[in-house]
Amino acid sequence: MKIVVIGGTGLIGSKTVAILRQGGHEVLAASPNSGVNTITGEGLKEALADAQVVIDLANSPSFEDKAVLEFFETSGRNLLAAEAAAGVRHHVALSIVAIDRTDNGYFRAKVAQEKLIEASGIAYTIIRSTQFLEFLRSIADSGAAGNIVRISPGLFQPIAADDVQPTLPMWRSRRRATASSRSPARNEHRSTKSSLAI
Ligand SMILES: NC(=O)c1ccc[n+]([C@@H]2O[C@H](COP(=O)([O-])OP(=O)(O)OC[C@H]3O[C@@H](n4cnc5c(N)ncnc54)[C@H](OP(=O)(O)O)[C@@H]3O)[C@@H](O)[C@H]2O)c1
Repeated sequence: MKIVVIGGTGLIGSKTVAILRQGGHEVLAASPNSGVNTITGEGLKEALADAQVVIDLANSPSFEDKAVLEFFETSGRNLLAAEAAAGVRHHVALSIVAIDRTDNGYFRAKVAQEKLIEASGIAYTIIRSTQFLEFLRSIADSGAAGNIVRISPGLFQPIAADDVQPTLPMWRSRRRATASSRSPARNEHRSTKSSLAI
């Protein structure tokens, strides 16, 4: 079975490509660096030829509200249209827990991505994960000013990228999946401050 991993060179994408190859699948790791661009459409038709499953793990180069919304809308439209034309049988995407309960530019963009998938007519699995543990440094950096780091007192439940990627091939257990599901929570809720201190 040919599986195309869009964003196959990223944090989650590269781990997913490795585990799928270990499972004996024919896997194409697609990204702009390998000549496949979901924004311009470059290389998409060729990449999707004979593919049965597409796993979309692309991410926006910019997290600015307008730019990230444009990225996920344009990328989603181009990718899903190309999948329909190629006869792809299943679309898998990685989303984020509670994106429809918080007013945040990045989350709005992921909601838009989910809606495009749901309306595509292609069988799909959307996996909603919590924040990746690997993002902790960026969270700390974003609250830093000189020698002071301001951290939210809110609780969160991060998940290591290594624990996310085994959940991605779960489409295999669904014949015509249309469900969203959370990835398994490996850690208890904890404060950002105590997580940063680990
Ligand atoms: N971060 C979190 O905590 C979190 C939580 C839940 C879900 N997610 C979701 O998980 C997914 C993967 O995130 P990540 O952190 O693994 O991403 P990442 O490490 O930033 O990797 C992004 C990937 O997207 C590719 N890409 C960028 N522009 C593209 C384009 N125009 N066409 C095709 N591919 C393109 C990049 O390719 P190049 O290397 O060629 O630039 C790279 O392979 C995202 O959809 C994100 O929303 C993230």
